[in-house]
Amino acid sequence: MKGLILSGGHGVRLRPITYSQQKQLIPVANKPILFYCIEDLINAGIEDIAIVVGPNKEQVMNTVRSAKWDANIEFFYQDAPRGLAHAVKISEPFLSDDKFIMYLGDNLLKGGINGFVKDFVDAKVEASLLLTRVENPEQYGVALVDEQKKVILQLLEKPKRPPSNLSIVGIYGLTPSIFEAIDNIKPSWRGEFEITDALHWLIEKGYSVRYDLVEGWWKDTGKPEDLLEANRLILDGIFSENKGSIENSRVSGRIVVGDNTVIGENSTIAGPAIIGNNCSISNAYVGPFTSIGNNCQIIHTEIENSIVLDGSNIAHGGKIIESLIGKDVKISRNGSLPKGKKLVIGDNSEIEL
Ligand code: DAU
Repeated sequence: MKGLILSGGHGVRLRPITYSQQKQLIPVANKPILFYCIEDLINAGIEDIAIVVGPNKEQVMNTVRSAKWDANIEFFYQDAPRGLAHAVKISEPFLSDDKFIMYLGDNLLKGGINGFVKDFVDAKVEASLLLTRVENPEQYGVALVDEQKKVILQLLEKPKRPPSNLSIVGIYGLTPSIFEAIDNIKPSWRGEFEITDALHWLIEKGYSVRYDLVEGWWKDTGKPEDLLEANRLILDGIFSENKGSIENSRVSGRIVVGDNTVIGENSTIAGPAIIGNNCSISNAYVGPFTSIGNNCQIIHTEIENSIVLDGSNIAHGGKIIESLIGKDVKISRNGSLPKGKKLVIGDNSEIEL
């Protein structure tokens, strides 16, 4: 069985961060989301993986190659985000005539995919999907199912009037019949070749498409609030580890502190929280559900429920909550007159004062 991860697309809903960074590389609990997907596939026994890359292909390839994997990993370039089905089609030479698991590179699943993959290997079906009940099904692919037979009767992509509250989770068990289906679909109203339409084509042709329900949590990290929620969920399961030094400071809860990081001068860290390598935290409060990347400084600032990416420097930042702060960001106090907020902010930034 092979694995296919989709790591292209523009990540429009995560701008401005995604102007400079591919969305699947944004870290959750200091690890790129994409790495969780690769790990899930490897843990399920998959040793041949292809990753579809798009706009920032070098960045994705270099990041993946910077880590060691117990798998052969190849890359396929998609010239533009023409849809999930298009991404599958361009990977056909790699996938050939095997069953495969497709994993959307911005999805996070707590329980991993071992059970789902095992069931799919044994099942005599054309495709198998993971579904979960959601409150806002119109924002996802939606399935109408026969609960007794455990098969899917109808699939719709982001329908205005959803026929159920069962949303499609971004992990799919597929067989080579999907290629014929993709050849028979047309772009949707949003101009994309939808995998949902290809799967629906299979159902209409009388093929069997089964489903499992997700156990535990699942997150599509398409928007900042989803990333923060994913960060909370992952940090909830961390264990304490301290490779740095903690001086004159109070620590409570589970915290991970990286190499060469110094927490000092009357700081308070309340876990669960993770602080990367080479950071300096002084006279600061780092509260629950906060991930701070490598080479950051947090000085005279309170921060909680937030993600700070590598190289950022926050001094006298007041109280920062529920924030997503990009790489090499500088936040400081304006000590001169006239008093006021001096801002240099990229396109599509969001600030709540
Ligand atoms: O997360 C689950 C949802 O994912 C499903 O419920 C939907 O049925 C499915 O269509 C998909 O919807 P999204 O709107 O969330 O898909 P998104 O455009 O965010 O793309 C999902 C991943 O695939 C993301 O990592 C980017 C990547 N991608 C996307 C497109 C359109 C590609 O690599 N190539 C593409 O052409």
